[in-house]
Amino acid sequence: MADSRDEPLVLGIETSCDETGVGVVRGTTLLADAIASSVDEHARFGGVVPEVASRAHLEAMVPTIERALKEAGVAASDLDGIAVTAGPGLAGALLVGVSAAKAYAYALGKPLYGVNHLASHICVDQLEHGALPEPTMALLVSGGHSSLLLATDITSDVRPLGATIDDAAGEAFDKIARVLDLGFPGGPVIDRYAREGDPGAIAFPRGLTGPRDAPYDFSFSGLKTSVARWIEAKRAAGEDVPVRDVAASFQEAVADVLTRKAVRACRDEGVDHLMIGGGVAANSRLRALAQERCEAAGIRLRVPRPKLCTDNGAMVAALGAEMVARDRAASDWDLSADSSLPVTDPHVPGRSAHVPAPAAAHHHHDHDHVHEVAKDNLYS
Ligand code: KG4
Ligand code: ZN
Repeated sequence: MADSRDEPLVLGIETSCDETGVGVVRGTTLLADAIASSVDEHARFGGVVPEVASRAHLEAMVPTIERALKEAGVAASDLDGIAVTAGPGLAGALLVGVSAAKAYAYALGKPLYGVNHLASHICVDQLEHGALPEPTMALLVSGGHSSLLLATDITSDVRPLGATIDDAAGEAFDKIARVLDLGFPGGPVIDRYAREGDPGAIAFPRGLTGPRDAPYDFSFSGLKTSVARWIEAKRAAGEDVPVRDVAASFQEAVADVLTRKAVRACRDEGVDHLMIGGGVAANSRLRALAQERCEAAGIRLRVPRPKLCTDNGAMVAALGAEMVARDRAASDWDLSADSSLPVTDPHVPGRSAHVPAPAAAHHHHDHDHVHEVAKDNLYS
């Protein structure tokens, strides 16, 4: 292996939701992972309030960048690039990160890489388990997303196989926790109660697992409704709600569907590595069941430690470093935040890099021609 100092030194900024994350990596080595979270400010609303998140990012941005550089023990002038989440995420929150990244990159004279939040969630595993095997199947489960992605080249080829058609997996945890009066975010507390409950106590439905259902899509709203109704019925009958059994049975339904579909996707696509990322990857039952089913199917499971699974800046830096290492085009200075950036765009290269001038000219010509024809028709 080459001297690690030859590997790209990249700072990454993540502000797509409620975490202001700034990470520094050298290649696949984590040097710093600084986080400022506004989660406490959202708790009383039971969910993330975009305006509150944006303001918190603005206040935390510069101190968090300084903290990350200090923790990494590097000078900003030594960086080989600055990476930032360009999307998807909350528009106002993304904008703060993109503006900061541009300002630092421009002032320091470093290339800027606008990268995809979902691809970053996958790439972060390099910091834990070394170079990502390609292809890798990725199950991303958080408060904002539940998707199955096939990453053939993490910098340029990420294909969505399936996604939730309603609630995200984490959202379901948060909603059930609210019905049970357990507070926000719901995942960690449900996980805790479930440890003392019986996962087979109540047979909650497994959404979209019928023979005619989309094989890789997820649905959690039916499960959520079913759990809520079950709890209401208990309360209406004046009976105690067995919180631990409800938590364990609900969690079992989610873990069962997620792992079943992920393993099936690996088999169908002939992929022998599965990574699980996003906040819900911290779930103890999901991890255990995934391990069990992967082992049975001959699939190697990779799950980063919880701190790298939830939103953070190191994951953005990890993908940025990969962009530098593979000579991907940097972003333009007019890079903008894109709240619905498609997962098929692992990064946002400068326009000059992907729209060759001759093709653009040709296209204009065709367009003019169509316009003329339309006019002719109009007047004939
Ligand atoms: O990735 P993340 O920090 O933020 C985004 O939503 O992008 O994920 C947060 C989500 C929340 O819905 C939270 O309830 C869930 O991850 N979560 C968990 C656990 N820890 C966090 N869900 C299930 N079990 C956990 N142990
Ligand atoms: Zn995320």
